[in-house]
Amino acid sequence: MKKKIEQAIKPFGKERGNLIPILQAVQDNNRYISEDAISKIADKLKISEHEIYGVATFYTQFRFTKPGDHMVKVCLGTACHVRGGAQILDRTEKTLNILPGETTLDSAFSLERVVCIGCCALAPVMVVDDKIYPQVNSSDVGKIIAKHRSRHKKE
Ligand code: FES
Repeated sequence: MKKKIEQAIKPFGKERGNLIPILQAVQDNNRYISEDAISKIADKLKISEHEIYGVATFYTQFRFTKPGDHMVKVCLGTACHVRGGAQILDRTEKTLNILPGETTLDSAFSLERVVCIGCCALAPVMVVDDKIYPQVNSSDVGKIIAKHRSRHKKE
């Protein structure tokens, strides 16, 4: 983990303007931004950890806790919302027994609410890892989660 953090930070200069690209690189490499990563970034850019958290928490793209093995995203952009996105999210929350931003106890799934993933014609959409599920209805949610849960057990 430490090595991956260092690899992500290394290509960047020490200018403060590199903060956001560094945070993105760390998250891309490690799937989230750990306390250790914040500390290393603070050392490199010579700014306080407090300031880094202040900037990073402004952006919803950054995660500060380790995500589950599978990322479930439910779109609540306008097109998805008007076609039942809120019901999809509600069913997903109940199926996984977590709220957006949380991870299941077995670390299998994390849930995120997103605002448009750019395929509005397929609304309402749900995404698990890189797989997009188009025109989802509430009764599909359990099957979609079960499919990925069985893959998770095989891994
Ligand atoms: S609003 Fe959901 S994909 Fe655009």
